[in-house]
Amino acid sequence: MKKLLGKDEIREGVGRLARQLAAEYDGRPLTIVAILTGSLVLLADLIRQIDMPVRIALVGSRRQGDKSSTRRAVVVEPALLPKLEGRDVLVIDDIFDTGHTLVEVIAQLAVHRPASIRSAVLLRKAERCEVAVPPDYVVFDIPDEFVVGYGLDYDDRYRNLPYVAALEPADLASE
Ligand code: IMP
Ligand code: MG
Repeated sequence: MKKLLGKDEIREGVGRLARQLAAEYDGRPLTIVAILTGSLVLLADLIRQIDMPVRIALVGSRRQGDKSSTRRAVVVEPALLPKLEGRDVLVIDDIFDTGHTLVEVIAQLAVHRPASIRSAVLLRKAERCEVAVPPDYVVFDIPDEFVVGYGLDYDDRYRNLPYVAALEPADLASE
């Protein structure tokens, strides 16, 4: 694999996002909804760097298709959600690829009538976007390569790497 973003670089980027959110919401409490499973590491790091009142919630995104596929059927399980009505909601995900996951989750959460709903992602892939609305916050723009680590997986592996790396053909061949 080829390392794209190191531990320190990610930490600084997440810190920048945390400071930006604290400034923009200006003391108003924020409900952060993280899309499982890839955004767990971002969630854990972000909430510990963020200096404002937050609530957290998790929603499921289930994989469809083959193991490196990015097409997912998004399942928002209402039982896992806190009250969203009238609240400022921030949906977070590990990566914005085509954008369909985020758009689908936002549409399903909007039904609960939050006061506002925005989105933040750790990574965004260049030139892959297929939706009209970009994420509100992007920590890093990356080239169009399949990446793992810091929560991102290939076939449920590599999520625990503390850095982000691009898989190379040899990594896929060794499966
Ligand atoms: P989108 O709906 O195409 O934006 O895809 C977003 C989802 O696909 C993310 O939540 C990831 O779980 C997954 N995904 C997209 N690209 C990658 C990648 O390079 N590595 C690992 N997972 C990815
Ligand atoms: Mg994911």
